[in-house]
Amino acid sequence: MSAKILDGKALAETIRAEIKEDVAKFIAETGVQPTLAVVLVGEDPASQVYVRNKELACEKAGLRSVLRRLPASTTTEELETLVAQLNGDPNVHGVLVQLPLPKHIDEKRILDLISPEKDVDAFHPENVGLISQGRPRFLPCTPYGIQQLLVRYGIETTGKRAVVVGRSDIVGKPMGMLLLQKGLGGDATVTLCHSRSVNLPEITKEADILVAAIGKAEFITADMVKPGAVVIDVGMNRVQRTIVDENGEEKVVSKLVGDVDFQSVKEVAGAITPVPGGVGPLTVTMLLLNALNGARRQVGQKK
Ligand code: GUN
Repeated sequence: MSAKILDGKALAETIRAEIKEDVAKFIAETGVQPTLAVVLVGEDPASQVYVRNKELACEKAGLRSVLRRLPASTTTEELETLVAQLNGDPNVHGVLVQLPLPKHIDEKRILDLISPEKDVDAFHPENVGLISQGRPRFLPCTPYGIQQLLVRYGIETTGKRAVVVGRSDIVGKPMGMLLLQKGLGGDATVTLCHSRSVNLPEITKEADILVAAIGKAEFITADMVKPGAVVIDVGMNRVQRTIVDENGEEKVVSKLVGDVDFQSVKEVAGAITPVPGGVGPLTVTMLLLNALNGARRQVGQKK
């Protein structure tokens, strides 16, 4: 039996259509166009693609996006000045500094400087604290998208064993928090594990819901998955693979794969997200929602 494919791309389109309607309504009521400022430092090729996707997604949903590009030689102080300026700009409702930053820039100092009211990534310690106390202001985009996927596909989380592999501040830790929270898409029994956990397969095999966010290509194999489990793949790994083309000749191609060995795991899991077309499109979608909610709060529409 092959697992049900959880189509993140299609779901993202549905949610984006809802957001687009809400943005139009918000503009009609307030005369304010929700605006996201994205800061891109340097020339990282993957970051350029991600940032372009964010700009296009804003445009399609009726939000304004402002891209501030800075050279890789930018100093921490120069970036601080820009962030402070965006924090103080009443026409900007969300501020996102694309990661990774060049090595010489003090990343924590920059992220801590983003106004918590405009922190659409939910990386600021104040926002992380609010999430951990179950009274979030913003939810981090990838975990938020995964929670939406579970809820909208009717996947029960209450009382289930959820295992998150990966302990990053961007995905692993906040994902654990959301699954642990009281209410819809939460109330799970959560285990957070990582590359240093002993006997990972024993832990992952306990999972009713398995979230792979470890950043290693095809790390989760079929023997690590409980039959019927829901498997969510957060990985985005570019790998070189040798294939045999239609003329019988070998060639090396570049391929995007997840943290889950899709081909083997889909034969064991009950449901699985593909890569691409799974979690990725939902991340950008929740960013749009965060920007809209930031604007709502800043005009006093929302607590
Ligand atoms: N780089 C990769 N993912 C992210 C993200 O979610 N937010 C930011 N700011 N940078 C990223």
